[in-house]
Amino acid sequence: MNFPGEVRPPQALLDAQARMRDGKEPSLHQIGLLARQASATGDMDAYIQLFTKVEPRLRRHFQHHSPEAEFLRSTGKVAGNINVFRKLTYKSLSGPVPAFEKIYRRNGSDLKRLQWVARHLWGRLPCQMPQIIEIVPGQRLSVVLFAFEPFTPVSPDGLIETLRDMNEFSIAHPASAFDVIEPAMQQMPLLYQQRRQTLAAGLALAGVSESELAGIEAACMDIVHVFNHADLHRFNVGRNGMIYDWDCACFAPAAHDPGRAIAALRTFRRLSGLRDFIQNRLGRDMAKTRSDAARIMFFYLVYAAKKKLTDQNTDEIKTLHEIFGHIRSAL
Ligand SMILES: Nc1ncnc2c1ncn2[C@@H]1O[C@H](COP(=O)(O)OP(=O)(O)OP(=O)(O)O)[C@@H](O)[C@H]1O
Ligand SMILES: [Mg+2]
Repeated sequence: MNFPGEVRPPQALLDAQARMRDGKEPSLHQIGLLARQASATGDMDAYIQLFTKVEPRLRRHFQHHSPEAEFLRSTGKVAGNINVFRKLTYKSLSGPVPAFEKIYRRNGSDLKRLQWVARHLWGRLPCQMPQIIEIVPGQRLSVVLFAFEPFTPVSPDGLIETLRDMNEFSIAHPASAFDVIEPAMQQMPLLYQQRRQTLAAGLALAGVSESELAGIEAACMDIVHVFNHADLHRFNVGRNGMIYDWDCACFAPAAHDPGRAIAALRTFRRLSGLRDFIQNRLGRDMAKTRSDAARIMFFYLVYAAKKKLTDQNTDEIKTLHEIFGHIRSAL
């Protein structure tokens, strides 16, 4: 029973709590809900109890490290990990070190992508990445402890600079340069899949069919695939020049990272604005690299499809039609 004015928790959370009370195994999604509830209410005991109950193999980790742990900000989005982060002190052989804790789906592609990057590119990247201190495997979840690297989002100009360095590195690292590639990295990340669906719906309102979109997508993908971070935005790149969050890393066209980063920085109402940005901020010669620039525009369109459009959104639909039309003519 709720008291007057008291907000009723969402049903999904109540169901997850009931499942725990009944001693039944919660789904990973339910564990995420319960974990975020504990973090949102600052209830560290509830957080520890949750994980020691659902992941006995992780009991030692949670009991050992939690006394001085603190919850950190999270965006609360549901991705390949539980998306509740903690700062804690890791007792290494050389003494206590501050660590950043992130909990992943044990068999999820996010963890596989991260581990491949750490194994194959550590020390070879044009930037630093947080060091992985330890990975503690559970049954369905794994805890990853990173060196704690205080984070301040990079400026928009700083992101463009990082993007240029990463893109140069990407172009020099095609898939063929590696003996072993994690199969998950041959797939586009989840965010791409989700946004591509939203784009298809928006383009349909602009009179562009799914098969036309698929044709243009295939033409954009039909080029050498190189290493991509795949999620370059200001909250994954630190002012300290460090790049965080390699959970989406994949092999894709070199135009993918610029398109994704531009969509995280700006939304363009006209083709001319996007073209000028690619030319002036990314330093692309539009005349010489027409098809390459068109590919960047395609990936921009995918990641810029952040909300479902209706036929009321006439301006956005017009912009989609204009940019897509240009891409089609340039490829
Ligand atoms: N090693 C680290 N040390 C300190 N802070 C970190 C570290 N790694 C990440 N962070 C901070 O935590 C935030 C989230 O981390 P990350 O980007 O890896 O997760 P995410 O899955 O993208 O979640 P979100 O969408 O909340 O950003 C980062 O934006 C950064 O502020
Ligand atoms: Mg992130």
